[in-house]
Amino acid sequence: MDKKPYYISVCSQKGGVGKSTFTVLLASLLHYRLGRRVLVVDCDFPQWSIEEQRRRELEILDRVDGYKLMMIRQFKATGRKIWPLLAAGPTTALKNVEEFLAAAAEPYDYVLFDLPGTTAIPGVLPLIAQLDRVFIPLKADKIVMESSITFARTLTESFIPNKYARIRGVHLFWSMIDARERTSLYAEYEQALMRFRLPLLHSRIPQRARFGRELLPGGGPVSRSTLFAPERAFAAECSLEVLAREVCTITEEQA
Ligand SMILES: Nc1ncnc2c1ncn2[C@@H]1O[C@H](COP(=O)(O)OP(=O)(O)OP(=O)(O)O)[C@@H](O)[C@H]1O
Ligand SMILES: [Mg+2]
Repeated sequence: MDKKPYYISVCSQKGGVGKSTFTVLLASLLHYRLGRRVLVVDCDFPQWSIEEQRRRELEILDRVDGYKLMMIRQFKATGRKIWPLLAAGPTTALKNVEEFLAAAAEPYDYVLFDLPGTTAIPGVLPLIAQLDRVFIPLKADKIVMESSITFARTLTESFIPNKYARIRGVHLFWSMIDARERTSLYAEYEQALMRFRLPLLHSRIPQRARFGRELLPGGGPVSRSTLFAPERAFAAECSLEVLAREVCTITEEQA
């Protein structure tokens, strides 16, 4: 039998920190640029933000010749069709994924889950327990940091040692880095992470308005898309490819 894909999630107990943004960016970088075959599961009802984005993007693709050409070029270069997307509640997501994988013609390397921003929703905690790794985006904001450290500690101290849980790693990464903020603030927060032995990724993601930009009805360079990898200049400036490679290295080396 083929190896089971890695189950990962960019998750947090905070809203608006970039869970869906980085799920989409990582999925597209892994699938369209780094040679991994990816399935995405949107578990964040009732927003279904990734499913909605995919629907908007397919409509634009249908109307904009520039994007159609880009799609043909991407397919010729990578052999990749667009990554498939399932929408499922947290309680049924694993079963739906297993059914999808069992019926798939090709083996998958990664399944990325976009989870709701609260574990109060039934099924979220049991689902997190069955993932391989989670990646928590951090923002240098007291409330986000307190919530993220508590969440990461709970997973690290209670879930990882539990023999019924699959989860093997909880990693944090800086996002929305504000160049105007004093650097000592980041150092102070990093000391807190070290104190609790919470691993921080090397990749540091800056704050940029482009993270909110989807495909444009008039065409234009790709930022965050479910259909294409982000444009290379944007990916380089914001350390996105570095982040994607770091996620792969950690997940695959520590499997
Ligand atoms: N590094 C960044 N710099 C600037 N804006 C960002 C960055 N990352 C994400 N954003 C923006 O922050 C907003 C929230 O992002 P996103 O929707 O991905 O968060 P979320 O955690 O999925 O939220 P929710 O809890 O509502 O699901 C979006 O407008 C997105 O474009
Ligand atoms: Mg979201």
